[in-house]
Amino acid sequence: MKIESIRREYEFAELSRKSIDKNPFKQFATWLNEALISRVLEATAMSVITINNDGFPQSRIVLLKSYSENGFSFFTNYSSEKGRSIERNPMIGLHFFWPELERQIRISGFATKTSAKISDSYFHSRPITSQIAASVSKQSEEIPNREFLENRFFDFQNQLRGKNPERPGSWGGYIVDPVKFEFWQGRENRLHDRILYIKQGEDWLIKRLAP
Ligand SMILES: Cc1cc2nc3c(=O)[nH]c(=O)nc-3n(C[C@H](O)[C@H](O)[C@H](O)COP(=O)(O)O)c2cc1C
Repeated sequence: MKIESIRREYEFAELSRKSIDKNPFKQFATWLNEALISRVLEATAMSVITINNDGFPQSRIVLLKSYSENGFSFFTNYSSEKGRSIERNPMIGLHFFWPELERQIRISGFATKTSAKISDSYFHSRPITSQIAASVSKQSEEIPNREFLENRFFDFQNQLRGKNPERPGSWGGYIVDPVKFEFWQGRENRLHDRILYIKQGEDWLIKRLAP
């Protein structure tokens, strides 16, 4: 198949300064709800972009677990590659793409760790097998083979005898406090709508960008 001929027109919706909310968190909530109602597959999946310790940007998908005007939260391993990058540079990007709605949202912000209480509460809300997996996987480290991982999983499961593990200190949440949002809506003739919000003190400056 020739991929250069793949092309579609975007005509699902439009975005204007009149139609958007002045508050980007509210605009985000509207779009996420529309993605959930439209049954977009993995609507809460987002790319998290960090500047790695080798200087290159790195992106990976994680699941958004909560959001409010305090920020956007996800959970991971603090010793993973992303965790180590955030430790050095907490300025990160979040990126959502909802193809069924012809929309993307980009967010830039500062990441900090969630409190131990929030991390504990989310850790223990997960199925016990997920808690065990998070406990035995040293995320982003090299392992010899799959068997090594499975052995660690089943050994730990046997040790626990049905009890819940404690949350490992190396596992928890981050909350991202945004300073910038960009909402992108695909439009006909590639004249897409882009609305940028930039934080200025307590207010948000709103601009339209060329596509
Ligand atoms: C749909 C999907 C959801 C994911 N959710 C998470 C998540 O919530 N937390 C997480 O640490 N990794 C999640 N991952 C795995 C990450 O993409 C990544 O492989 C892992 O976090 C290691 O990344 P790092 O080596 O850059 O730190 C998910 C992957 C996919 C495809």
